[in-house]
Amino acid sequence: MEFSVKHGPVEKQRSACIVVGVHEKHKLSPAAAALDAACGGLITRTLKGDDIKGKVGDSLLLHHVGDQAERVLLVGCGKAGEALSAADYRTLLTAALTALKGTGARDALLALAELEVKERDLAWKVRQTVELAGNVIYQFDQLKSKKDDKERPHVKKVSLLVADAAAEKVAREAVRQGQAIQAGMKLTKDLANLPGNICTPRYLAEQAEQLAKDNKKLKATILDEQEMEKLGMGALLSVAKGSRQPPRLIVLEYQGGKKKDKPVVLVGKGLTFDAGGISLKPAAAMDEMKYDMCGGATVLGVMQAVAELELPLNVVGVVPSSENLPDGAANKPGDIVTSMSGQTIEILNTDAEGRLILCDALTYAKRFDPAVVIDIATLTGACVVALGAHASGLLGNDQGLVDALLAAGQASGDRAWQMPLWPEYDEQLKSPFADMANIGGKEAGTITAACFLARYTKEYTWAHLDIAGTAWKSGNGKGATGRPVPLLMQYLLHRSGA
Ligand code: BES
Ligand code: MN
Ligand code: ZN
Repeated sequence: MEFSVKHGPVEKQRSACIVVGVHEKHKLSPAAAALDAACGGLITRTLKGDDIKGKVGDSLLLHHVGDQAERVLLVGCGKAGEALSAADYRTLLTAALTALKGTGARDALLALAELEVKERDLAWKVRQTVELAGNVIYQFDQLKSKKDDKERPHVKKVSLLVADAAAEKVAREAVRQGQAIQAGMKLTKDLANLPGNICTPRYLAEQAEQLAKDNKKLKATILDEQEMEKLGMGALLSVAKGSRQPPRLIVLEYQGGKKKDKPVVLVGKGLTFDAGGISLKPAAAMDEMKYDMCGGATVLGVMQAVAELELPLNVVGVVPSSENLPDGAANKPGDIVTSMSGQTIEILNTDAEGRLILCDALTYAKRFDPAVVIDIATLTGACVVALGAHASGLLGNDQGLVDALLAAGQASGDRAWQMPLWPEYDEQLKSPFADMANIGGKEAGTITAACFLARYTKEYTWAHLDIAGTAWKSGNGKGATGRPVPLLMQYLLHRSGA
């Protein structure tokens, strides 16, 4: 979908489908009123018929409205005279874009930026439109031999109508940002939706190399087993031992700031399939463990968007990638391994493998002399129990960084929620035989997992996002969500002063 920005009276525009808001109790938005006057009161008459109530999420398609549009799509936007909540605005945009996708229109004009949203400006509304359009039209059918054309949207070009020339300038920049973010999310979703037999650690590494080839601002370095061996990454390598696919450590560097500017380092769990290892997972829904590389896919998506927007800061992406399978050479419960940091780990459950690959990547991150390190991981089922699909779990050793990420989540609509990282929880990791165990018992699983990581991040400012509940949807409409690309991009945009 291509986006452009226009200003001027709505009734003077021509389009295959004009999209305007209508309120409850038969009230029209300014754009709907202007269009209504131009088409002899058709919209008013339609509302009187009560075919659309005007509630947020409602929509109604009208045909042959006046000369300027073959179609008008009415979109419910709640009570008149009240600013919408950010969540309601996202709901009505999704409803509008979904309805638009179902029409035969090749192009459309959206007059929804005029609606007032509490504590949100024009740039936000425009960016949300572009990002949500990306979600609505997203499809993963590259592995189907026959593509379902009915599912494919006709609409190719969308114009966003704004008030005047000044607003047009603001909206253009917001479109640019929205497009980069939504393209990053698409990359994240595509990689995540690929099955484990295609998206292996080597495949992920190749994709990172391809990104660097396509974008001169990115540099890719791939470490293989021998190189990791030399670095002493005994924890990461122990997970990979049970697999026939060799592990990779993927590093992507972007330099948009000054050479001496300390980078933001993003570390993403890239477990391309997690069967649990010898502590084998139950069969039900095990296919979803192909999504255990969503943290890594998020890092690739963010790196692409950062490079595309040429943000004036330095960012490094690090993705430890491996499979976790049962095998004669696999980790066994009770095994003790030595991490790159020198700390030893008693592996009591081989299914707690994410922290094992992350801890070595987090130690490796030190060499970039980071301003901050943020890791992103589908780390614990406990996080899905605690927060469901609505918020990512957030923990860290610096409240300033945690607050900045919470704020970025609020602003982008891709929210996170903080959990405590108290020393009392850390005690649960005690082992009689090694420096620590890799599990902390059945209580507070998300927190003890973060406590484990905290033992490897003492020398820098660090935060951890547990995206086990937010990175993909289960059941009907199963698929990757592209989260938390919007949250991280919001954080980086803010950091870069944009
Ligand atoms: N990748 C899983 C976490 C996960 C589970 C994400 C279900 C989404 C849905 C992780 O490697 C794992 O298996 N964690 C264990 C940890 C436990 C053994 C302490 C878990 O959550 O069960
Ligand atoms: Mn696991
Ligand atoms: Zn896992």
